Amino acid sequence: ALERTLSMIKPDAVGKNVIGAIYNRFETSGLRIVAAKMMHLSKEQAEGFYAEHSERPFFGALVDFMTSGPIMVSVLEGENAVLRHREIMGATNPAEALAGTLRADYAETIDENAVHGSDAVESAAREIAYFFSDEEICARTR
Ligand code: CMP
Repeated sequence: ALERTLSMIKPDAVGKNVIGAIYNRFETSGLRIVAAKMMHLSKEQAEGFYAEHSERPFFGALVDFMTSGPIMVSVLEGENAVLRHREIMGATNPAEALAGTLRADYAETIDENAVHGSDAVESAAREIAYFFSDEEICARTR
């Protein structure tokens, strides 16, 4: 099915100057960027986005990291976009990420793991709405 997913290029990867390299992976894999913006998240924005993890021991470190610099937030569209994006990213822990995935190539640790992607169609809808209004998502015209 044609799906949309939320993609974030995290502060470590933005700092490494690999936004274009990561976008290239999406595009060559058949995903289309239909919305994008650079943001520097506030503590409140990061806490709200990751609210489901608020009881996890890594939550404080996660919020500190995600507010440590700018991020690129994008909406990607394509056939099976949620799973396809997850496959391009690789495992959450870069030590377990397959060769050729974004986390194998650009992430150092599970805490600073370069990218985030929605894990299911339902969470994608919620995560997209967290950052983008309907008007900010651009339909393909050609
Ligand atoms: P992300 O997909 O952005 O969702 C939550 C993030 O928490 C995750 O990527 C990791 O970067 C980070 N994290 C740190 N420790 C863990 C852990 N033990 N399990 C899952 N996520 C973790």
